[in-house]
Amino acid sequence: MIALVTGATQGLGLALVEGLAQRLEPTDTVYLTGRDMNRVMTAVQSMPGGGAKVRGELLDVADPTAASLVAQQIQERHGGIDIVFGNAVMRIGPDDDPREIIDTYTQVNNFGTTRLLKSFAPLLNDNGRLLIVASSLGTLHHLAPVLHKRFTEPSTMDEIDEQIANWRDTTMQGRVSAWPAFINIPSKVGQVAAVRVLAAERREPDLRRGILIAAVCPGMINTPTSALWWDVSTAPTPAQAAKKLLDLALDPLQPEQYGELVRDGEVVPFR
Ligand SMILES: NC(=O)c1ccc[n+]([C@@H]2O[C@H](COP(=O)([O-])OP(=O)(O)OC[C@H]3O[C@@H](n4cnc5c(N)ncnc54)[C@H](OP(=O)(O)O)[C@@H]3O)[C@@H](O)[C@H]2O)c1
Repeated sequence: MIALVTGATQGLGLALVEGLAQRLEPTDTVYLTGRDMNRVMTAVQSMPGGGAKVRGELLDVADPTAASLVAQQIQERHGGIDIVFGNAVMRIGPDDDPREIIDTYTQVNNFGTTRLLKSFAPLLNDNGRLLIVASSLGTLHHLAPVLHKRFTEPSTMDEIDEQIANWRDTTMQGRVSAWPAFINIPSKVGQVAAVRVLAAERREPDLRRGILIAAVCPGMINTPTSALWWDVSTAPTPAQAAKKLLDLALDPLQPEQYGELVRDGEVVPFR
């Protein structure tokens, strides 16, 4: 099997790589990817060993060409892929001014996600998994009703990208709008909406082939990113949070999870 995790130099991504390596075989390969090659190699060296081979690879999801380039290399080397976790996130804190960071934030979290989906969905082998780490905040419940159709009407990932670009521009210009001040919310809604659009396009053939495309919520995790916002001292460690996500990647397909946001094995309704 071939697996790949983005944003895997620390936090949940690193734990997903370690968990995959432990649960796969020595003939399998797990790609530990990140935006900085030194941090990637340090993370590879921190792996305990045993199980699948862990291979470092540069994949800066903010780079418009990176996902398709890595996908092309993986196709040439292995002919396809079995498990992809889109996990990378730009770390932001309560003191960051949304007007200053939203351009990079959307580039990493949203356009980076749609590029990953577009690049790796065509490579999925039978019984493959393409899982985007989103959040329970990624549902319409957290958005003003006037904004809902922006994420329910699009039928392509480009149209989702247009909505995200529109939100980014509104935020950068400091315009008064219905968008929530916590930029994590529209970003996560956009990720879940992108997964839903792709899944709607591919549902029948994917289900026949045992493929799962889904968004996943890991729940609150004790990482430096969440510690900027909340007291996470008693929250699960990345390794504990990774377990349910690894089950989703490795257990048999449950068709009702296809195209949905899944938390603890249960579908979280989008609407
Ligand atoms: N923590 C929580 O409580 C929580 C709750 C719900 C959902 N989530 C989601 O879970 C995922 C992981 O969160 P986390 O708390 O583990 O985050 P984290 O500890 O901040 O790790 C983020 C990872 O993303 C990488 N990254 C940042 N920009 C990147 C880029 N341009 N290209 C590639 N990688 C990049 C970082 O690399 P560097 O090492 O180079 O900085 C790091 O490895 C995120 O999608 C997050 O939204 C987390």
